[in-house]
Amino acid sequence: MSSLMKAVTYTEYGPPEVLSVSEVDRPELKSGEILVRNKAAEATKADCEMRSFQFPVKWFWVPLRIAFGVFRPRRQILGGYFAGEVEEVGDGVSRFAPGDAVFGNTGFRFGAYGQYLALPEDGTIATRPANMSFEEAAAVPLGGLNALHFMRRAKLSPGDKVLVNGAGGSIGAHAVQIAKSMGAEVSAVDSGIKRDFLLGLGADVFFDYAVDDFGAEGRTFDVIFDMVAGSSFSRCINALKPGGRYLSGNPRLSVMLRCLLTSAFTDKTCSFAFARESVEELTTLRDMIEAGSIRSIVDRVLPMEEAPAAHRLVETEQRIGAIVLAIST
Ligand SMILES: NC(=O)c1ccc[n+]([C@@H]2O[C@H](COP(=O)([O-])OP(=O)(O)OC[C@H]3O[C@@H](n4cnc5c(N)ncnc54)[C@H](OP(=O)(O)O)[C@@H]3O)[C@@H](O)[C@H]2O)c1
Repeated sequence: MSSLMKAVTYTEYGPPEVLSVSEVDRPELKSGEILVRNKAAEATKADCEMRSFQFPVKWFWVPLRIAFGVFRPRRQILGGYFAGEVEEVGDGVSRFAPGDAVFGNTGFRFGAYGQYLALPEDGTIATRPANMSFEEAAAVPLGGLNALHFMRRAKLSPGDKVLVNGAGGSIGAHAVQIAKSMGAEVSAVDSGIKRDFLLGLGADVFFDYAVDDFGAEGRTFDVIFDMVAGSSFSRCINALKPGGRYLSGNPRLSVMLRCLLTSAFTDKTCSFAFARESVEELTTLRDMIEAGSIRSIVDRVLPMEEAPAAHRLVETEQRIGAIVLAIST
């Protein structure tokens, strides 16, 4: 008979109230896997989108619905990004040992809102940064992996002027720090309540999207990294210097098409991508954190029972940084 664990689960798509704590089967450890006693999970915008099945980019809907459950969610435990402690290792595992403090990404297994995770040892998992708590470390992989992927893709040189649109989100807040560590001059665009947070993370200039036009007064940038699904493509392209690079992390179909045309017929380069989220990127992030180049972006830590409140804070953006669920024993 399998043993049980506590997890935040959902059995139907809907508002935050569909989330509740229940007892479910603990995942079974197979060979080549590690069993992680989970301590913390970031409540992400993507978790909220999966829960409600509403996406700012509409073309996601059909393929994801087929993959994740047409009438109800096939996997009932959300959560893609975690930090915890290795409790047991399966046959053939050599990268990790019981007692290791780790953080990472669960990939399409999800499950980070549960007390235990069985994950392949070659998954995107690394030992936790020594200078971060489990809660702080859980807020790194989503934002950090995606931001590092896009900032490397941008091929930044010291002194480049980089604009991060949607800089106050999990991905944007890491992009600001990573671009700064690469020597860029960073402008951050988000809502006014995130001004001090973003300047504190190292942004040189802040634009409040409700008030300011970042492209006004002839301002131009070498790189624009755009995490905002509904942003104006032409405004971003017009604000690029000759030879500038536009990167979209949240592209609509029309943006994807215009990216291809802009790259083909102008001297500006546009790209869109899904980040690979590799082990090498995660260990690079850990090294950057330990070296002090990336700091914690945690706003609040809530218990599992308050998962609906955590999702409301993320959805309504009544947060300055990341919201983390503490996964209780
Ligand atoms: N490409 C990839 O590989 C990839 C990977 C993971 C996630 N994603 C997707 O990327 C999206 C963003 O990720 P995230 O976790 O960083 O989201 P997030 O934490 O919600 O951040 C989005 C930020 O953009 C701000 N914002 C909203 N409208 C804006 C505007 N017009 N101008 C400037 N800023 C604006 C939001 O603030 P306010 O709402 O307070 O205004 C918020 O701070 C999600 O939809 C997610 O599904 C893409």
